[in-house]
Amino acid sequence: MTTPRPETLAKLTPVLTKRWLSPDAWRIGTYEKLDGYAALRKALKAHPDDLIQLIKDSGLRGRGGAGFPTGLKWGFIPQGDGKPHYLVVNADEGEPGTCKDLPLMTHDPHSLVEGVIVASYAIRANRAYIYIRGEAVHAARRLRNAVQEAYAKGYLGRDILGSGFDLELVVHSGAGAYICGEETALLDSLEGFRGQPRLRPPFPATHGLYASPTVVNNVGTIASVPYIVLGGGDWWKTMGTEKSSGPMIYSLSGRIANPGQYECSMGITLRELIELAGGMQPGHNLKFWTPGGSSTPLLTAEHLDVPLDFEGVAAAGSILGTTATQIFSDQDCPVYATYRWLEFYHHESCGKCTPCREGNYWMVRVYRRILAGQGTHEDLDTLLDTCDNILGRSFCGLGDGATSSVTSSLKYFKQDYLDYIEGRTAPKLSDKQLVGAH
Ligand SMILES: Cc1cc2nc3c(=O)[nH]c(=O)nc-3n(C[C@H](O)[C@H](O)[C@H](O)COP(=O)(O)O)c2cc1C
Ligand code: SF4
Repeated sequence: MTTPRPETLAKLTPVLTKRWLSPDAWRIGTYEKLDGYAALRKALKAHPDDLIQLIKDSGLRGRGGAGFPTGLKWGFIPQGDGKPHYLVVNADEGEPGTCKDLPLMTHDPHSLVEGVIVASYAIRANRAYIYIRGEAVHAARRLRNAVQEAYAKGYLGRDILGSGFDLELVVHSGAGAYICGEETALLDSLEGFRGQPRLRPPFPATHGLYASPTVVNNVGTIASVPYIVLGGGDWWKTMGTEKSSGPMIYSLSGRIANPGQYECSMGITLRELIELAGGMQPGHNLKFWTPGGSSTPLLTAEHLDVPLDFEGVAAAGSILGTTATQIFSDQDCPVYATYRWLEFYHHESCGKCTPCREGNYWMVRVYRRILAGQGTHEDLDTLLDTCDNILGRSFCGLGDGATSSVTSSLKYFKQDYLDYIEGRTAPKLSDKQLVGAH
C-alpha cells in the first residue's frame, strides 16, 4: 500500500461524509450537535420558491446517474394546482458497484431526513417516501429509527417547528429488484403494482405517484440540500467544475488497496482516486474500469487522467453514472467480467420490451459459448448486432446500460475475445455451464 501525497489528500472534500466517523453519528443528538436541523430552521423562514432558486443557482445535479439539474426538476412541479404533491427518494441503489447511498443512510440518516423535509417544503409536498432497497435491512432500520426521532422532536408531522408546514414521511422497503430503481417502475412498485417502467410522457413532474405531481430524487441529491441551504450556492460551486458543481461520493471497489467511499470535488481523476485508496493491490496493474457502475462503458489505463465529472467522462466516451469506479487489473478478464454483468441484466430485465428481454437472453448464451472455448468469429458480430438492436430501442435505460460493457470491451479488448475463440486462453466455463448456449 502506498501513502497518498499531501496534495492529493487535500483533494478530499468531506461534506456529505463529514459525520460518518463520529461516534453514534446516526443518532439525532449527535446530528444536532454537528449542525443538524439548522438548515431546516433556516429553510422554513424562506419562501419555497427562493429555495428552488437556491438549488438552481447552486448547479446541483442529480446523483442518481443521469445528472439532471435538481432545481430545474423541482421547478417543473405545477404550483396552485390543488393536487397533492409528493417527494420520493430513490434509495434503491442497485447498480453493480455502487455503494454511496447505503453507507450514507447507515451512518448519517438524519442528513437525508432533513433534506427530505426541506425539499418537500420547497415543492409544497405534505407526504414524502423513501423507497429503500429490500435487502438493505440495516440501513432501513437506521432510517426508520431516524424518522421516529425526527417525529419525536417535531421535525416531522404537523406544524413543523411552528411553521404551519405539515409533512408525513414513510420509509418503504422494496423487494430487491434492480428495475425498481428506474423512477417510474419505482412509482408503480410504491403504488403496489409489479415494478415496470411507465411510458413517458407524461412525466412524474405532472403524473407521478397516484397520478399527482412528484419529484423523484436520489439519496445523495436530497442529502446535499441541507448543506446548500446552510453554505449557499456559491460555496457549493467552489467545489467541482463549471457544469458539475459540488462534491461527489466516489465508491471505489476492486483491485485497490483500500476500497471504500471517497468524497472529492467533481472532476477528480481516477489516478488521484487510486492514490487516495493506497494504490493498486500489490502485483496488479490497472487494465479496465467502470467510471459509474456496470451500465457505463468501460475505460482503460489510457483514461487515468479523465476528469470524473459529467462532461469529462462523456468526452472520453463513457458516462459518469453513479460514480461507482470498479477497478480491474491485468489479472482480470474483460470477457468474463462482461459476461457476469450480462447475467445480471438478463436476470433483472423486467421483460416488458422485446429488445432487452430477448437480446440479453441471447447475449448471455453467446458469452457462455465463447467462455467455454466454443465461440466463433461470427459471434463477435452477433454481439455487436444484438447491442445495436437493444441500444436506443429499449423501453428504459436498463436495456441501454446492458450493452455498455459489451460494446466497450469489444472496442478495447477484442484480442481477449479472440484468444478464447482461437484457443490461446483456456476456457473459463465448462461444457456443463454451456447448457442452452447453442
Ligand atoms: C435500470 C435503472 C435503475 C436505476 N436505479 C437507480 C437507483 O437505484 N437509484 C437512483 O437514484 N436512480 C436510479 N436510476 C435513475 C432514476 O431513474 C432517476 O433518474 C433518479 O432517481 C433521479 O434522481 P436524481 O435526479 O436525483 O439523480 C435508475 C435508472 C435505471 C434506468
Ligand atoms: S429495457 Fe428491459 S427492464 Fe426496461 S422495460 Fe424493457 S425489458 Fe424492462
